[in-house]
Amino acid sequence: MNILIKGGTVVTAERSWRADVLCADGKIQEIGSDIELPKGADIVDAGGQYVMPGGIDPHTHMQLPFMGTVASDDFETGTAAGLAGGTTMIIDFVIPNPQQNVMEAYNQWREWAEKSVADYSFHVAITWWDETVSADMETLVKEHGVNSFKHFMAYKGAIMADDEILVNSFSKAIELGAIVTCHAENGDLVYALQQKIYDMGITGPEGHPLSRPPEVEGEAANRAIRIAEVLGVPIYIVHNSCRQSLEAITRARNEGQRVYGEVLAGHLLIDDSVYRNKDFDFAAAHVMSPPFRSPDHQKELWHGLQSGNLQTTATDHCCFCAPQKAAGKDDFRLIPNGTGGIENRMEVLWHHGVSTGRLTMNEYVAVTSTNAAKIFNIFPRKGSISVGADADIVVWDPEAIKTISAKTHHQNVDYNIFEGMEVKGSASNTLSRGKIVFADGKLNVERGAGRYVDRPPFATYYDAMKKRAAVKQPTAVKRDTRPKRVAMKKKSVIKR
Ligand code: URP
Ligand code: ZN
Ligand code: ZN
Repeated sequence: MNILIKGGTVVTAERSWRADVLCADGKIQEIGSDIELPKGADIVDAGGQYVMPGGIDPHTHMQLPFMGTVASDDFETGTAAGLAGGTTMIIDFVIPNPQQNVMEAYNQWREWAEKSVADYSFHVAITWWDETVSADMETLVKEHGVNSFKHFMAYKGAIMADDEILVNSFSKAIELGAIVTCHAENGDLVYALQQKIYDMGITGPEGHPLSRPPEVEGEAANRAIRIAEVLGVPIYIVHNSCRQSLEAITRARNEGQRVYGEVLAGHLLIDDSVYRNKDFDFAAAHVMSPPFRSPDHQKELWHGLQSGNLQTTATDHCCFCAPQKAAGKDDFRLIPNGTGGIENRMEVLWHHGVSTGRLTMNEYVAVTSTNAAKIFNIFPRKGSISVGADADIVVWDPEAIKTISAKTHHQNVDYNIFEGMEVKGSASNTLSRGKIVFADGKLNVERGAGRYVDRPPFATYYDAMKKRAAVKQPTAVKRDTRPKRVAMKKKSVIKR
């Protein structure tokens, strides 16, 4: 089926211009003014609307088995909800249990994802280490289109990666031309603080943010970044929630390190007052890690996005319904960590980003789609409106007004973290590889229509990093060749 998107303004990360877009055989075939409707093609009237690359959510957890339960949105319902909001691709996570064979976990997640209605790919988490893990990383990069490995620095006693694992995995990643990603929270500190707070008699959801202060995140982000610097591997820090981790990223970027940062729509727009709500279900629904922060951190995160020190936006979509959250009724440590948002990311960021003037439309496209495609090496197939790209497109009505609610959303969860938020601007039509999958407020999706997207390794990284290491080496071992007395004099000056 061919589709002609007519009369809209195409908006990419680079520019905006009036053009029609013709989609054929799942790809963008032509972009131009006044393209004639081919015989048998359907037409989408985009008059007064924007035609943008479909959103890419680089951080989701569909049907994740986690903290004794399983996330309620599976690959079918979760990707469908994404399409309803203009997100046409997710990058989810394979998370092996410690000691579980990595390829076995990968194959399990691939099987679960077969029912996806939109395209998907996988980061693979490294949760333990031995020679088989190293070999499996190689197999994943060389034969299965995986170019990113995730490390949870939190969740002690479960999937936490300690420094030894980070060093081993990062070293292997750079050898393979892969990027490493980190959930940055000091897991040992969190564990100790959780115990302390619980022992003080704070057992409700308000204990959750107290056990995970921003310093815990900043320390871990800085540590991961510095380990990556020494080993010369590019690094991506997921779900930055606070000034401290943003500062670690900004500092390293200013020093020329290849560091990327992600921010969640939720962290930008929801503050920590939710944990002080007396209604357990409400407060527990917002329990995620890192937690929502105070408004001053939110302001910093917006600045990070505006300055380009944070490059991507995501949701960390990982839903648990009230009966699942109730596992932690008497102990906040047992509340399954995770919230939703895949359906609303594009509209809340448009409303609070573009409509407020914080972001230009082009910057919006960059942070919701194109930058993720570039960082994870699937650009321009994804994240672009260009001839030959996959026809993953959102037609955006800037005048549409809606109030977000769990009563009307497509996400398979009984609450919505943006409940009651009125937004102006939302998807009128979503195309997934050239097929209209959302129009007139209705989904028209096919179970299993989503395809796995291979992400090739970054051939250039290894060479570039080797060159950089060679340049840096002489500086690192530079000796003070001045006569001893002069050197000593200098030293005492510094001391004083
Ligand atoms: O609380 C969260 N974020 N749950 C999902 C797992 C993770 O840490 O990303
Ligand atoms: Zn995380
Ligand atoms: Zn996550």
